[in-house]
Amino acid sequence: MAITHPSFGTLDDDRIIFFDTTLRDGEQSPGFSMNLEEKLRMAAALDDLGVDVIEAGFAIASPGDFESVQSIARLFGREGPVVASLSRANPADIMASANAVKPAARPRIHIVLATSELHMRVKLRMTPDQVLERITESVTLARNHAADVEWSAEDGSRSEDEFLCRCVEAAIKAGATTINIPDTVGYALPEETGRQFRMLRERVPGAEKIIFSTHNHNDLGLAVANTLAAVQAGVRQIECTINGIGERAGNAALEEIAMALRTRHDRIASRHSIKTQRLLGISRLLAAITGFDVQPNKAIVGRNAFAHESGIHQDGVLKDASTYEIMTPESVGWTKSSLVLGKHSGRAAFKDRLATLGYVVGDNQLNDAFKRFKDLADRKKIVYDEDIAALVDDEISNQQNRLKLTALTVATGMGAKPMATLALEVDGEKRDGMATGDGAVDATFAAIRNAWPHDVTLKLYAVQSVTGGTDAQARVTVRMEEAGKLVDGQGADTDTIVASARAYVHALNKLLVKRERREPPVA
Ligand code: KIV
Ligand code: ZN
Repeated sequence: MAITHPSFGTLDDDRIIFFDTTLRDGEQSPGFSMNLEEKLRMAAALDDLGVDVIEAGFAIASPGDFESVQSIARLFGREGPVVASLSRANPADIMASANAVKPAARPRIHIVLATSELHMRVKLRMTPDQVLERITESVTLARNHAADVEWSAEDGSRSEDEFLCRCVEAAIKAGATTINIPDTVGYALPEETGRQFRMLRERVPGAEKIIFSTHNHNDLGLAVANTLAAVQAGVRQIECTINGIGERAGNAALEEIAMALRTRHDRIASRHSIKTQRLLGISRLLAAITGFDVQPNKAIVGRNAFAHESGIHQDGVLKDASTYEIMTPESVGWTKSSLVLGKHSGRAAFKDRLATLGYVVGDNQLNDAFKRFKDLADRKKIVYDEDIAALVDDEISNQQNRLKLTALTVATGMGAKPMATLALEVDGEKRDGMATGDGAVDATFAAIRNAWPHDVTLKLYAVQSVTGGTDAQARVTVRMEEAGKLVDGQGADTDTIVASARAYVHALNKLLVKRERREPPVA
C-alpha cells in the first residue's frame, strides 16, 4: 500500500529508502573519525550516489559534531537528501539535534531508546512503563521541531514481542514517521529478522501509515542477509554504510545491498535511487579519507571482486563474461582498461580519468594531484589506474591537515647508521627535524618526533605494492595509539621511505582530530 511521508510524499510499495549512516555509526568506530571538511566531502559524494537520507552525526556528542551536522544540513535543497541527527531520548539531545538539522530543507530527528529486557534493566535502569512513557515524551518533543521523526528501538532484535509492539505503537501515536528496529549487537538470523517485521506489521495499530526501517550490525557476518530478509518482510528503509564501516564488525554495506537488490531483482522487487556506477568511487573516497582500505576480496569494491585467477574461469569469461560474472564490473564503477596515462598526457585527460575512476575534485586539488601525477610519470614508465587512485587518495587524505611533510632526505647504506633530515609544516609554521635510527624508516619516524614532539605507540607498519614492477608505488599503512585511541594513516609514493613518512604524518593528523573530540556514548 502506498504511504504518504512528510519528507518523501507518496511512496509506492516497492520504493526502498537508502539511509546512510557512514557519518554517524561509521564515523564513531575506532580509527574512522573525520574532520569537518572530510565529512562535507563524503556528504556531497553520498548525495551524488543518490542516498535518500544522510545521518550526519550525533549533534550532542561535541561542539564539533554539532557543527558538522549543521554544515551538512546547510548543503542540500529540497532535491537533496534528508539530513538526520541522532539523539538519545532526552530533551537536551533532542534539542541539539533539532537545532543542528534546522537549516536542512528536509530535516529529520532520530531518537534511540533501548527496549530489550537486558538493556532496560542493566543499562537504562528503567522499568518497561518508564520506557513507554519516555518514548511518548521524547517523540512528542521531537515532533514539535520536525515533521520527520525516526524512532529506534535499540537492541530491538533481542526485545520481547509483546513489549516491542507496545513501544512501536506508542512511538507511532506520538508522531514518529519511521520506526527502526536495529539488530544492535549483530545477533539475529535472517529468518528471525523477517519474522519480527512481519509480526510488527500485522499486530501494531497504525503500522500501515509509517515506514519500517532495518539497521543491522555484522558481528556474525549477517548484516546484509538480515537487511534483505527485512526488505522481503515489507521494510522500506535500509540503514547502511559505505564499505560496511561501523561499530565493532560494522554495519550492513550499502554497496552490497544495492547490488543484491539490482542483481536479484527477480526475487526481490524493489526500486531505489542509488547510482551503482558510483559505488567504487565513493568506496575509494572513504578509504582515502579514513586510511582504511577494504580487503581485496570485499564484495563489489574489493580489488579481487572481479578478478578471475583460475584458467578455467578465465577461459569461461573470455567466451562469455556471464559464465562467471553475475554483474558487470562497469555497473559498479570498475573500468576495463588498466593502462592509462603517461608523461605526455595533459590536464584534461587526467581530469577525465579521475572522473571515470569516480573522483570528484575541486580545481586546487586537481592542480596538486596533476603536479604529482606528472612527477610520477617522470619516474615511472607506466602509470596505471591504481597508481592514479593511490596518488589522489594520498592527496585527498592530506588536504586540510594541520601537519604537512614538506621535505625529506635520508642517508643510508651498508654499515652506516641511517640519518633522516626533514621539514614539517605545523599549522603553517616550518619545523625541522633530524634523527638517526635502526633503519631508514625508524630514522624518519624519529626525525618527525624531533620536529614535532609527541608520544604515541606504533602498533602496525605495513607496506603494499600498488602495482607490479620495481618502479611501483608503495602504499604504507601506519597504525598508532595514544591513550587508548587508535588511528591509521596511509601514504603512497614510488619511494617507500617517503610513503612511510606520509603515512605517519597522516596518522598524526587523525590523532589531532581525535584529541579534539569526546567519544559519543551510544552504539
Ligand atoms: O545499532 C544501533 O542500535 C544504532 C542505533 C542508534 C540506531 O546504531
Ligand atoms: Zn548501529
